[in-house]
This record gives sequence, C-alpha cells and structure tokens, in this order.
Amino acid sequence: MKLFIDTANVAEITEAASWGILDGVTTNPSLVAKEGRSYHELVAEICRIVPGPVSAEVLATDAEGMEREGRELAGIAENVVVKLPITQDGIKVCSHFSEEGIATNLTLCFSPAQALLVAKAGATYVSPFVGRIDDVGQDGMQLVREIVQIYDAYEFPTQVLVASVRHPQHVVESALAGADVATVPLKVLQLLFRHPLTDIGLQHFLSDFREAKDVH
Ligand code: E4P
Repeated sequence: MKLFIDTANVAEITEAASWGILDGVTTNPSLVAKEGRSYHELVAEICRIVPGPVSAEVLATDAEGMEREGRELAGIAENVVVKLPITQDGIKVCSHFSEEGIATNLTLCFSPAQALLVAKAGATYVSPFVGRIDDVGQDGMQLVREIVQIYDAYEFPTQVLVASVRHPQHVVESALAGADVATVPLKVLQLLFRHPLTDIGLQHFLSDFREAKDVH
C-alpha cells in the first residue's frame, strides 16, 4: 500500500519525504488556505519536493470552471493529480479528463454508489473519507471494504485512496482491506513508528552494553 501525506505544508512534506517512505501528497482547499500562499506556486513547490502524485483540488463547482481550473492545475507539473468533487459536474469533467489521460482524484466519497460512478468515469483515484464517516457514528472502514470488493469484482483500475485518516489503526485497516493508498497527516505518520516495546527494548540493549565491563 502506498503512503501519501495529507497536508499542504512544505515543512511537513519535506520532513516526511526525508524518511524515504513517502509516495505522494494530497491537499485540499482547507489545507491550502492555512498556508497563506499563492496556490499555484505552492503546488509547484510541493511537486518539486515529491516526485510522486500530488493532488490539487479545483475550486469551481460548475463543469466549465472545473475543467478550466483542472487543466491549469495539470499544467503546473507532470505529477499533479486533479482533485474533483463527486458531483454530476465533477464526474462529467472526470470522464473528459480520463479520455485525455489527465490524472484525477475524486474526493468526498461517502458511499459505494458514488465510488462505482467514479470508477466508471475512469478516475485514477477515489477518496473515501473514513474519519468523517466515523464522526457521524458510522463505520468508515466498512465503506473502504465495500469499494475494494466492488472494484475487485469488476477489475476497475481506479485506485482506492483512503482519506480523512485520524489514527494508525485506520492505516492498518486500510492495508488489511486491500486499499491502494492511505493519505495520512504528519502526526499520524509519526505515530506509525511508535511502539512502547521498541523504546523499552532499545533502552535495555543500550544499558546492557554500557554496563558490560569487558566490551568496548
Ligand atoms: C483528502 O484528500 C483530504 O484532504 C483529507 O483526508 C480530509 O481529511 P479531514 O476529514 O481530516 O479534513
């Protein structure tokens, strides 16, 4: 399973990229707004840091506007993935972009029916938002399992990109469900490294070595 970082912050992306395990980046308008910078310049900088796919979302909600903005975003760098909302207009634009070979990430997926339409439109990625589903008392990971089942049954090439990840268990369950990608905030990526037995074990190894008299 690929790991993307879910942020538009260059320092966070640079940090995660330095670990050698980062496959891509997802941004959204809320994350970009926090950075207070020119949108296109920011996307260009992120694309230089990470050679993998970088999702950048359109702001228009009508097909014509989405298509224009999507083309502008796709023109920034070869690794830009145009992020479109799952609406009738978003699906329409996705179908056009699929025919032209423009990579797309269809976002705000909350049902298997939406995911089916996304696959039929030839999207590169579908983004089920697991944390937001959990927030309303439903099971976000169940949606991921259902999408994987449908895509496997029909051999749809659209990749399942698990989004709105809130804790390490979301990442583990995504991998167990056979998702293609999880996009993860920096704080949760950092938690993936941690296990108390690793810390305790390391302390013991080092103190045993220091206490031994005849070892140098
Ligand atoms: C996905 O691409 C989105 O940027 C993101 O995962 C949304 O997560 P949130 O529910 O934590 O805002």
